[in-house]
Amino acid sequence: MIAAVDALRRGEAVGLPTETVYGLAADARNEAAIARVFELKGRPRSHPLIVHIQGVDVLEDWALEIPDAARRLAARFWPGPLTLVLRRHPSVLDAVTGGQPTVALRVPAHPVAQAVLNRFGCGLVAPSANRFGHVSPTTARHVRDEFGADLPLVIDGGECSVGIESSIVDLSGEGARLLRPGMLSHDELEAALGAPLEIGAAMDSPRVPGNLERHYAPNTPMQMQVIGGTANLSPPADSSHNVGLLACGWLPTGVRGIALPLDPEAYARGLYAALRKLDDAAYDSIEVVSPPDTPAWLAIRDRLRRACTGLM
Ligand code: TXA
Ligand code: MG
Repeated sequence: MIAAVDALRRGEAVGLPTETVYGLAADARNEAAIARVFELKGRPRSHPLIVHIQGVDVLEDWALEIPDAARRLAARFWPGPLTLVLRRHPSVLDAVTGGQPTVALRVPAHPVAQAVLNRFGCGLVAPSANRFGHVSPTTARHVRDEFGADLPLVIDGGECSVGIESSIVDLSGEGARLLRPGMLSHDELEAALGAPLEIGAAMDSPRVPGNLERHYAPNTPMQMQVIGGTANLSPPADSSHNVGLLACGWLPTGVRGIALPLDPEAYARGLYAALRKLDDAAYDSIEVVSPPDTPAWLAIRDRLRRACTGLM
C-alpha cells in the first residue's frame, strides 16, 4: 500500500481494487500520469475519466454549483457504487474531463481504495483497469492478465463485491439523468433524489463511450439467444461449431459453459470473471441465455448487450 502511494506520487499508474471493478489509478492533478493511463488503456483522449475522491467533504475541490440533489445522493450512497456528474471546478484538468464543462466523481467503498485515497490525500482518476473496449477486471489477476509487465504495481484487494461498474447519474443540467445503470436500482436512486430520474443522456450531451460502441466485450464472438426456453439450450446439431453457454440459473446437461446464479447481485459479481473464463476456453462463440427482463437485471442486461456482437 505504501509502495503504491509512493508510485502514485511519482506519477505512475497503479491497479487499484474498488467494490465495483478494479481501476487503473493515477494522480488526477498530474497531466503526465493521466496521459499514461490513456496510453496504457489505449483509450481515446476524448473519453473522460472518473475522479475518485476521499469523501463528500472534498467535493468543492472538484465541482461547482453542487445541487441539493447531489448532496442527497452522496449522503445516501457514498461511499459506494455511484458516480455523480457535476459542473467542474476550474482547477480540474482538461485531460480528465476531455475538455467538457463537467466532471464525474465517486467515493469508492472498498477499504483498500479508501486507505490509498486517504494516504495519498488527493483525487485519483481510475478507469476500469482493462484495455479499451475489453471486459472489466474484478480480481487482481484479471488486471495482471490485461497489462502484464506494463503495469508492475497491482494491489490485490480480493474479488470485487459488486462486480460491474458504478451507476452514473448526471446532475450537471436540467433534472437528473442515469447515464450508466449499475447495481443501485432506479427506484432507490429516485427515492433518494426525491425527483424523477430520466434514463439515458440528453440528445445534445457529450459522448459516453459505453453508450455508443461495443464495450465490456470478450474476444470470442458472443450473442444473446433469440428466444429463451429449453429448446434453445440443447447442444448444437453441428458439433464442429464449438459453443460455450453463459447460462442463468442452471447449465443443461451435456452443454458446455458456465451457469451464473439466478440472482442479480450474485450474477453481477460473477459476470466478468465468467466472460474471461469463457474467452480462455477458446469456444468458437459464446451464447448468452437472456436474464429476466425486470428492473433488478437492468444493468446486467445493459453490459451483456454491449458485450454481444448481435443485438439483444
Ligand atoms: O465503477 C466504476 O465506475 C469504475 C471503478 C474503477 O471506479 N470505473 C469506471 O471507469 O467504470 P471507466 O473510465 O471505465 O468509465 C467511466 C465512465 C465512462 O463511460 C465515461 O464516459 C463516463 O464515466 N464519464 C466520465 N466523465 C464524464 C463526464 N464528465 N460526463 C459524462 N460521463 C462521464
Ligand atoms: Mg471501462
